Amino acid sequence: MNKYDSLVAKEQKSICNTYGRYPVDVTRAKDSRLWDLSGKEYIDLLSGISVVNIGHCREELVEVMVEQGRKLVQVSNLFYQEEQVECAEKLLATCDADKVFFCNSGADANEAAIKLARRYMRTIKNRDAYEIITLDGSFHGRTLATLTATGQTGPIKDGFDPLPEGFIHVPAGDIAALENAITDKTAAVMIEMIQGEGGIKPLPEDYVKAIQNLVKEKDILLIVDEVQSGLCRTGKWWAHQHYGVTPHIFTSAKALANGLPMGAMLATEETAKGFTPGSHATTFGGGALVAKVASKVLDIMTEEKLDERAAEMGDFFTAEALKLQDKYPGKIKEVRGLGLMLGVELTFDGNEIFEKLREKGFILNLTKGTILRLLPALTIKKEDLTAFLSALEELLTE
Ligand SMILES: Cc1ncc(COP(=O)(O)O)c(C=O)c1O
Repeated sequence: MNKYDSLVAKEQKSICNTYGRYPVDVTRAKDSRLWDLSGKEYIDLLSGISVVNIGHCREELVEVMVEQGRKLVQVSNLFYQEEQVECAEKLLATCDADKVFFCNSGADANEAAIKLARRYMRTIKNRDAYEIITLDGSFHGRTLATLTATGQTGPIKDGFDPLPEGFIHVPAGDIAALENAITDKTAAVMIEMIQGEGGIKPLPEDYVKAIQNLVKEKDILLIVDEVQSGLCRTGKWWAHQHYGVTPHIFTSAKALANGLPMGAMLATEETAKGFTPGSHATTFGGGALVAKVASKVLDIMTEEKLDERAAEMGDFFTAEALKLQDKYPGKIKEVRGLGLMLGVELTFDGNEIFEKLREKGFILNLTKGTILRLLPALTIKKEDLTAFLSALEELLTE
């Protein structure tokens, strides 16, 4: 048995069967490159699903990990930690929010957002408003509440009922449906500016503006899930900044510590009043090590202007992909995205092309069977994007 087969056999014995994995065993990574056990090199256009936004195994982060690892790793939130405060200040400098709650993942951040919205309504507004309205096609996580918030059906939800009460889904883009769904029980509307798992679908600008007007008129909260779209990915620090909206609450995770598990829920001063000591907590959230790493990630994103770089590289990719669409209109249905959150929708089942791209050494994702989803590091070289487009064109001509 070769090393790969042996690993797969051991994995099947020891790990819960929840993932349909790619047939690749990653053993090493650097910048936008991955290597498998056999030494084969791949161009990584997925970055751990929008996680290693500044590239794999950055030396600066290794240094921070080693130094902080010797000083203080984790002491719990019973204590003040300057690393956590420093990280919060840097994060708040990127947006209009006033307060941060640190946690450990995207689902965890969205749980915090949902809990804060409900508690703010009960304790500050004195309204028994707890319903959260989300959009069809959305993805907000896999905990029971965030799974229920997720606007999808099928295997993702099958077998887990009873699901928590208080979540309503409406079609994305239909402002009348949203308005009809709002009642005196509504606490918040929760949206992704660009549905990621849903197939790289940016919400129309006028729809988002209308949502903002509606939440204001109805005096309810707007929660934006920036778990995938945040941290310079779309060409601005946060995708909601493209739309000129200021959410009451928004969430982040994935790229925050460039691969170490970390999430954050950010809120306005007023909304954050909904939490008081004892109302929400997590053991690991904002621990000294992850916070120090995240601070460095934020520094690097700022110094290297990775928001601007993502916009520039995204424009380049989109223009080139649109040329491919012009050449092969029968094969490419649509090229979508913002910055380096990119989708190329094929007119046919994409499984074969997706596998062939992997054989050629390109790691990406296939969403909904037809959408090639790319979330490369924001530091990716233009040549790597060009190499991917050439490989795609080659396969489209076959
Ligand atoms: C928009 C969005 N929200 C939430 C999540 C859940 O994040 P996590 O897997 O870290 O819990 C994801 C993960 O893909 C996501 O894309």
